[in-house]
Amino acid sequence: MEKVAIVTGSSSGIGFETALDLAREGYFTYATMRNTKKGEAIKEIAKKENLKLETLELDVDKEDSVKNAINKIVKEKGRIDILVNNAGYGLFGCLEDISMEELKAQFETNFFGVVRVSQAAIPVMRKQKSGIIVNVSSVAGRIGFPVSPGYISSKFAIEGLSESMRYELSPFGINVIIIEPGVIKTNFMSSTKKSLKSDSAYKDITNKVIMGITMMSEMGTPPKEVATTIIKAIKSENPLPRYTVGNDAIMFLEAKKNKTDLEFENYIKKELFS
Ligand SMILES: NC(=O)c1ccc[n+]([C@@H]2O[C@H](COP(=O)([O-])OP(=O)(O)OC[C@H]3O[C@@H](n4cnc5c(N)ncnc54)[C@H](OP(=O)(O)O)[C@@H]3O)[C@@H](O)[C@H]2O)c1
Repeated sequence: MEKVAIVTGSSSGIGFETALDLAREGYFTYATMRNTKKGEAIKEIAKKENLKLETLELDVDKEDSVKNAINKIVKEKGRIDILVNNAGYGLFGCLEDISMEELKAQFETNFFGVVRVSQAAIPVMRKQKSGIIVNVSSVAGRIGFPVSPGYISSKFAIEGLSESMRYELSPFGINVIIIEPGVIKTNFMSSTKKSLKSDSAYKDITNKVIMGITMMSEMGTPPKEVATTIIKAIKSENPLPRYTVGNDAIMFLEAKKNKTDLEFENYIKKELFS
């Protein structure tokens, strides 16, 4: 039986690499993206390597787009084995500087987008009594950080959602895996929305953090490493609930585990302000 994988946000970065690697593993892969005009590069590689990969329009913000994509996949293949909820973007700006609209839009994509696609795919997986849902969270889903409360909150929400889904779905043979990358070298920083009011009280910290993360991003972990971790996780007989990717993420999460809340806060302040 041909196994089927779906990846959201496959036009670049982590989604692009993951869709290709799933196809290389033999999955018929739907590399979904909101703008299929951006699909030429992935289609070219798939053609060259003779991979079973198709691009398909799916905007995680839009109910109809999600329904149409999942219905088409079910009509064509009759099953969904792997769903990688990857689509997302960053919102940088201190809480006082970001608008309610910006925050809602951030949650629409990063959180409700995952809910929307999962709700469409779960009934298919439940009927077949198997499936794996991979939710791409972030190290930002485990630790707070200034200048990105909107993004951080959306990823904390993904962590809670995923932990709850694990309990609900395991009786039906469906596994849920959380992926927590550190800073990855993708288009992420260029597509991140940046909010800074002209009379902002947070100019210095906002500029410092954005500059720091932009620099880290240029030297970030390659997205291929995230794809490799996702493949390792789904091939594992007993996948772990969460996988961390990148030395920076491992370092921050180790520090968090070994320190009290206040010690950890002081450690982050020292990293940021010294
Ligand atoms: N890069 C990092 O440092 C990092 C670290 C931790 C976690 N992550 C997470 O990894 C995931 C992938 O990001 P990336 O680093 O690969 O960045 P990226 O290269 O900017 O890729 C993001 C992808 O999400 C898509 N997308 C955005 N909004 C969408 C929507 N409404 N519907 C469908 N697709 C949408 C983008 O499509 P368009 O091309 O149309 O914009 C693009 O394909 C995100 O969830 C991000 O939060 C990234």
